[in-house]
Amino acid sequence: ANPPRPALRATDVKSFAFTTITHRWPIIITKTIDDVYKTRHELDPSIEPEKMKEGKDIMDSIALLKYELQRKKSLKPIDDDGVPDVNTWSEVFNKYFKEEDWHSAPWLFTECYLYRRTHSIFANTKHWCNYDPYFRQKEDTFKASYVAIIELAKRIDELISNPSVQDSEKRIVFHELALISLWGNATDLSLLTNLSHEDIKKLQSNAKSLEELEKNILANDLEEVWGKLSHYQQKRIDFVLDNAGFELYGDLIFADWLIQSGYASEIHLHAKAIPWFVSDTTPNDFNWLLGVLKNDFFSSVPSDEKLYLERLAKRWQGFVDNGKWILKSDYFWTSPYAYWHLKEQAPELFSDISKSSLVIFKGDLNYRKLVYDCKWPTTTLFKDAIGPLATEKEIPPILALRTSKADVIVGLPEGIEARLSASEADWMFSGKYAVVQFSEGNQS
Ligand code: F6P
Ligand code: MG
Repeated sequence: ANPPRPALRATDVKSFAFTTITHRWPIIITKTIDDVYKTRHELDPSIEPEKMKEGKDIMDSIALLKYELQRKKSLKPIDDDGVPDVNTWSEVFNKYFKEEDWHSAPWLFTECYLYRRTHSIFANTKHWCNYDPYFRQKEDTFKASYVAIIELAKRIDELISNPSVQDSEKRIVFHELALISLWGNATDLSLLTNLSHEDIKKLQSNAKSLEELEKNILANDLEEVWGKLSHYQQKRIDFVLDNAGFELYGDLIFADWLIQSGYASEIHLHAKAIPWFVSDTTPNDFNWLLGVLKNDFFSSVPSDEKLYLERLAKRWQGFVDNGKWILKSDYFWTSPYAYWHLKEQAPELFSDISKSSLVIFKGDLNYRKLVYDCKWPTTTLFKDAIGPLATEKEIPPILALRTSKADVIVGLPEGIEARLSASEADWMFSGKYAVVQFSEGNQS
């Protein structure tokens, strides 16, 4: 299972893979230990001595993991930890990575492996096996996002109370909501390791015009998607979700409108089966979000504004209850495989997805997995870079909404790379730029 071009690897010290492994991961791992420390600190030793003991062991094991990667140690197999995907991980490890270390193996593998190893540490315990060490961070960031959350709740309320009748208006609303869903991806917790509440507000400021939202999109197929979607009636649309909290909220605003406007009758939402890349959405995060929108989570919000949230929460719960929104989580999304291997590795998931009329892949990691995380020339066509995901029989239309946070990007017009590289060394991975890329699929 080799990528069609050299894989991104941390052995290249100029790469973002190298920066990630040497600078970002140690921070992420330290925060994971801090989180366990906090939770453990709140326990009563006379009531939960065993859980206390396990908590201490977890912190030690995570610290050891950090040591291993900082010392470029060899990768180790993942022991049987009872998680349903453990055999897949063992097979892949034995086949391809036995001789590799944290820097020599492809970055896509080592990064997924880091989160899987971390999960394994928890899975091997009795009292912490379902613990999400990133939940606290996700919750805090969401709390800090309330200004933008209320604004968007008002906006969708307005759109639903005064539905656009003209196609030209619907087109603009489609662009607006797709772009909100896209830029929600800028609040990813694994990149923004030091974010203040003020920074979050700035990132989410919704005072931006459509023009401004489109300015930094280096390749934008949204109009082509609209050309297709505007003819849809009561179709199935899928989201392969990325981050929980504000990004998920923006995705659900979009999903809400797709249902309300009649383009979709069912939205399938694909979450991660285990805690992943810090901020990715798990089923628990999704349920938590619905819960807090219903409850009095944002206590400082004036009551007239809360009404918008209440209405929205009620409607969303209704979508879940009557099967218009369907939440799923397949272990393939957290497997070591790039998405080129979807059909061969997850045939049931493939045939499920084939029933969709549009699959929207959110965020950076999903994009890296779509294009196999390798050194494509930036002018490579998106359809070429996603390989079988463009050509396989029955593959549905695919839309990637991605803010660029890794040094792989395709589908750019000639000249963009040279222009940006001359002035912004980090343009590919700073999160400032985005791509919106579409492939029409191959359904009969
Ligand atoms: O660390 C690798 C990476 O893909 C980054 O490039 C990005 O910051 C992060 O993980 C995940 O981003 P996203 O949440 O958009 O998938
Ligand atoms: Mg993510």
